[in-house]
Amino acid sequence: MSQLQFDADTARRIEALYLIDDAVHRRELVREALGAALGDRVLDAGCGPGFYCLELSETVGSPGSVVGVDSSPAMLQLAKVRCAGRDDVVLLEGGVTALPVESGSFDGAVCVQVLEYVAEVDAALAELHRALRPGGRAVVWDVDWATVSMHSRDTALTTRVLRAWDEHLAEPSLPRTLGARLRSAGFDDVRVEAHAFAASGRDPERFGVALVPLIATFVVGRQGIGEAEAEAWGAEQRELMERGEFYFASTQFCFAATRTG
Ligand SMILES: C[S@@+](CC[C@H](N)C(=O)[O-])C[C@H]1O[C@@H](n2cnc3c(N)ncnc32)[C@H](O)[C@@H]1O
Repeated sequence: MSQLQFDADTARRIEALYLIDDAVHRRELVREALGAALGDRVLDAGCGPGFYCLELSETVGSPGSVVGVDSSPAMLQLAKVRCAGRDDVVLLEGGVTALPVESGSFDGAVCVQVLEYVAEVDAALAELHRALRPGGRAVVWDVDWATVSMHSRDTALTTRVLRAWDEHLAEPSLPRTLGARLRSAGFDDVRVEAHAFAASGRDPERFGVALVPLIATFVVGRQGIGEAEAEAWGAEQRELMERGEFYFASTQFCFAATRTG
């Protein structure tokens, strides 16, 4: 069965997810890792609803500019609304394996939770390398979904649900190979930092809490999970939230690398 499609409904759900505190915190970490400066020209590969485009355009100011590229017209529409009035933001429809940008034309690039959805990761990394000028810096961020741990009374069902959720992307544990692949793509000074995101209780500002409805919807019809089982799984998680017993943790990985040559 197919992985997650970034259609209008999914785009709206992801936009809502990226308004929560955990997502805001992640963007702070990404911007810090990139270290963009006033006047820089920055690429956002797989820009989604345009949060990074807007925030990075505020960092680089009018002497700089931001180009957001995404293959989903629905995502680009949200990004267009978000970045309305910012003449220094250009949004382009295109794929990360064939970026519609000139070679060597960017000081920095971000690619956040995109490559885990892409089958040809090496081609995408080669494109990021091509787009940067020598000395330019890339920040690539992905989740190792095998690091998810959740509390549940039905551990067998939760294991099946998480296996079914893995089908929402092309590479559920991409961070395990990203460092080597960045070096193979020609990047130097490759660094990685791990960031744990945990939720305990029912705080809707945590990734874990916000992800439960997305997971419960996606897994129906996968790994033999029917509607009733998915609903039962979601109901148990909501009940755990009500009782203050919900627990979810996952580790996300921030890779920073430089194009030297
Ligand atoms: C989970 S969202 C992340 C959006 C954004 N990077 C952020 O963190 O706010 C993944 C995005 O990657 C885009 N995407 C997935 N595969 C792509 C590809 N091959 N080329 C360009 N964009 C792609 C999707 O359309 C979606 O907007």
